[in-house]
Amino acid sequence: MVREDSAARDLLRIIRAMPHPAWPLAPEVTFLNHGSFGSCPLAVLEEQDRLRRQLEAQPVRFFVRELEDRLDAVREALAGFVHARAAGFVFVPNATTGVNAVVRSLGFAPGDELIATDHTYNACGNVIDAIAARDGARVVVVPIPFPIADASEVEAAFLAAVTERTRFALLDHVTSPTGLVLPVERLVPALRARGITVMVDGAHAPGMLPVDLEALGADAYTANAHKWICAPKGAAFLHVSEALEEIVRPVVISHGANATRTDRSRYQVEFDWVGTDDPTAVLSIPTALATLESMHPDGWDGIRAANHALALAARDLICEAFDVPVPAPDDMLGSMAAVPLPDGPLEHLDSALATTALQDALYERHRVEVPIVPWPRSPKRLVRVSAQRYNDIDDYRKLVHALREELARERR
Ligand SMILES: Cc1ncc(COP(=O)(O)O)c(C=O)c1O
Repeated sequence: MVREDSAARDLLRIIRAMPHPAWPLAPEVTFLNHGSFGSCPLAVLEEQDRLRRQLEAQPVRFFVRELEDRLDAVREALAGFVHARAAGFVFVPNATTGVNAVVRSLGFAPGDELIATDHTYNACGNVIDAIAARDGARVVVVPIPFPIADASEVEAAFLAAVTERTRFALLDHVTSPTGLVLPVERLVPALRARGITVMVDGAHAPGMLPVDLEALGADAYTANAHKWICAPKGAAFLHVSEALEEIVRPVVISHGANATRTDRSRYQVEFDWVGTDDPTAVLSIPTALATLESMHPDGWDGIRAANHALALAARDLICEAFDVPVPAPDDMLGSMAAVPLPDGPLEHLDSALATTALQDALYERHRVEVPIVPWPRSPKRLVRVSAQRYNDIDDYRKLVHALREELARERR
């Protein structure tokens, strides 16, 4: 009996030490940060490699003769996945560039107001700050409570901050520091009815939540395919209304600016070529969609439901372990969950890409990679977990164990 137990334990240890067969993740790391930079499945990397070899076999054919048609195939795949007009899709390397393209293309008058929340992703908040400063406009930052009891609190706070001067709203579909799903389906029409141009930053949404851009009706929507769709890094899209197609230009001006062709929109022509670059991440999006779909018997619905359930289970585990009330209702979460931790030592992080001492300790001493977010600002902080197909509940047990040890060490 004793021998069997130890044999079972050995087997379990061996299985746990095996790399995730479909993902190139380092086996020694408990990776709980798909939200910042998730891993890309091996099958998708193989497709990207195949495309790169095709490109390098005959670069002129690939770029000049084939690229537009290949991009059209990606537009069609995305049109089906997020329910939108295929012609409205253009590709950008990341959501930050998508937000830049739209906000920089809009002009504001002195006194105009641009509105966002205090959960807005730092880089995109910087974009609206810079353009407001360029044009003499003003940024209004709406505080959204966290912990939060109900999504209606977001709606009430946001709409109360709208004034006669509000021209532009930036709404995060899923917030970065707090992992909250904002009620964009209710806010977008309410804001547009007031004559406000609405951009949704959906960096995390496709692949995490069902997305229906047609029904949402935002003026502009940008999202990463390199997060929850698990395409290679550098795959993101922008989708704008037909009216905005006339106005929005890429951050980089290139050949399309003086093109006279009429077979496709100026919008597409300008975005489809912004200089020589590697388009294979974007071209791997259809394979990423199919690969993830095949990872659950119920396809994408199954993936989203399983990741959501695991994120909730992880959150409950952390809340129970540290005796913290659940900070947000289940229906405001997708595949990420943030939980407040006891205040830590005062830390100043110079950049959102920097890591806190606790995050470093969890990684260095326990090989647990999880973001510790100084939010709203240090010494207050959150732990934010992500749940993707390669995670299981034991990963979060390991996190709780490591957190207990490190929080105790801090107190000593
Ligand atoms: C809400 C939000 N917007 C934008 C981004 C930026 O994504 P990227 O670095 O791919 O531009 C992130 C990244 O996590 C995000 O969470």
